[in-house]
Amino acid sequence: MSLATMDGAISEEQRSPSAQVSIRNVTKVFPGKKGFFNKLTGKASSNFTAIEEISMEIEPNTFVTIIGPSGCGKSTLLNMIAGLMPITGGDILLNGEPITGPGPDRGMVFQNYALMPWMTVAENIRFAVETVDPKISAKRRDRIIKEHIQLVGLTGAEKKHPHELSGGMRQRVGIARALAINPQILLMDEPFGALDALTRGFLQDEIERIWEQQRKTVIMITHSIEEALLLSDRIVMMTRGPAARVDEILEIPFPRPRNRETIEQYPAYSGLKAEMERHLFRETRAVEEARIGGKK
Ligand SMILES: Nc1ncnc2c1ncn2[C@@H]1O[C@H](COP(=O)(O)OP(=O)(O)OP(=O)(O)O)[C@@H](O)[C@H]1O
Ligand SMILES: [Mg+2]
Repeated sequence: MSLATMDGAISEEQRSPSAQVSIRNVTKVFPGKKGFFNKLTGKASSNFTAIEEISMEIEPNTFVTIIGPSGCGKSTLLNMIAGLMPITGGDILLNGEPITGPGPDRGMVFQNYALMPWMTVAENIRFAVETVDPKISAKRRDRIIKEHIQLVGLTGAEKKHPHELSGGMRQRVGIARALAINPQILLMDEPFGALDALTRGFLQDEIERIWEQQRKTVIMITHSIEEALLLSDRIVMMTRGPAARVDEILEIPFPRPRNRETIEQYPAYSGLKAEMERHLFRETRAVEEARIGGKK
């Protein structure tokens, strides 16, 4: 990934020819609803620019996390990379080709699991595999399902339905399902956000282990500074919205495999952590000030 600056622009020479994902001056505007009036102001609801002119280049096999204040546009950006939401301005290229919709090259792990409630663990994974490859042989399909259930530590729970699983187990199914289609890129929207600290820690270690094995490109959203520092090669810090931008991209130099107990001992750790805390504090405070100011 090249450096992105406050204005979000990346010059031609900074663009990496080896980039797998190129995000170029991407803007997202949500249209105001025609005929809708704000009850307080009486004004017609206007367009809302969520993110503006965001650029970054992501090389293959890198683990990138996106961090920023709540509501700044992280999910919006990830959904556009997933092809689930149209882009208003700019381009997102995947291996040089513009993204026009979702595809089997990208696996998505949703924050709210998004499993089919009437399907078992194995059936949820099977559904994804067959959707991507309808002609797959039953033997190969079943091997992929078994391998991925094993990979996320759910062997024995194959026949359970989502309502019979804990939150952490559901999230594991989500991860297994996303990986089972063998995507080039794994997209994860706060995958551990709803979990208790212990389960979250286990799953972080699991993701670290899976990533060591498979070395996929990962783009993950998180609110946790420690999680970002443990897992990432690069951390993208977004500014507050509206018209959110990339403030800075941090390079995380710690060797792998990483370990939550030892990572804090690297001299650079506390400096990076403090920088992220300052960024999040500044941006969140500005959001709060705007909110309180807006109420007066
Ligand atoms: N479909 C939509 N229509 C209108 N506005 C939207 C829509 N989706 C998101 N927004 C607005 O765009 C902004 C960014 O939303 P988004 O969900 O991307 O934020 P986020 O950074 O993921 O926040 P969080 O950390 O709370 O998940 C917010 O102000 C939100 O209200
Ligand atoms: Mg979000």
